[in-house]
Amino acid sequence: MSVLRGNNGPRYRHNPDASAPYETLTIDKLTPIIGAEIGGVDLSAALANRQMDEIHRALAENAVIFFRDQHLTPEQHLAFGRNFGALHIHPAAPHAPGHPELMIIRADKDSPRANGEGWHSDVSCDPEPPMGSILYIEQCPPNGGDTLFASMYAAYEALSDRMKAYLDGMTAVHDGEVAYRGTYKDLGIADKAVYPRAEHPVVRTHPVTGRKALYVNRGFTTRLLGVPRDESAAILEYLCDHAEDPLFQCRFRWTGNAVAFWDNRCVQHRAMWDYWPHTRSGFRVTVAGDRPV
Ligand code: SIN
Repeated sequence: MSVLRGNNGPRYRHNPDASAPYETLTIDKLTPIIGAEIGGVDLSAALANRQMDEIHRALAENAVIFFRDQHLTPEQHLAFGRNFGALHIHPAAPHAPGHPELMIIRADKDSPRANGEGWHSDVSCDPEPPMGSILYIEQCPPNGGDTLFASMYAAYEALSDRMKAYLDGMTAVHDGEVAYRGTYKDLGIADKAVYPRAEHPVVRTHPVTGRKALYVNRGFTTRLLGVPRDESAAILEYLCDHAEDPLFQCRFRWTGNAVAFWDNRCVQHRAMWDYWPHTRSGFRVTVAGDRPV
């Protein structure tokens, strides 16, 4: 990868690895950098090993993948998630009755807020943050309610070499307190005594692809460690602005019964609440992850 600024060509050059054809899926990329719609798969079925391998590969190559026209019961949604590991239980958000791993994602005319309105990586305040999130939206507004996704590989690769050297070995605090305290009060959910808080590397290496990704986000990251507070605030602001550059993004336009599966280790996302007073509703299954390195 190389980065050029000024009049010397694109600000970020993406050099994708040559990809072998897929045998059991179709792949329709949203951008060269991030996101692909996947066809030829029914997520409600028990998937053959060959197709599961290709879904893993499609996620690794595209960082977020989308499936349209799926019809999932809660049990099928949970079973699809379990193909990728143990399921994560959200430390604060409401869940479907009897299913703590099935987070409710819903906004309607009476909602005081919608989920995920700021850029974030899911629950990055956990010592072992979720590997991935699988969002199934059943009911869409007539238009709007898109979700934006940004590649943190691209964000890292587009940093200057001097900035990469500065961030090398640096850690940051991710604090659930700022994100969760009082957030679900209007839904009748009492606050926990404490929310998760963790220190993670500012640049993490993806355990599957081996690529480096920027791992700070506006939702949870409160402090860069090892530098004065004012320097931390200024650099963090720069990194969050940089991570949100539209150059690194794709935008998914939902249709009813679609699924988005994103890799929290290398992707941030943001949901648009531009559809009030209409309803957007579904469930999220979140796959547990490892301690970032
Ligand atoms: C979230 O999981 O942050 C919500 C994303 C969305 O509703 O599109």
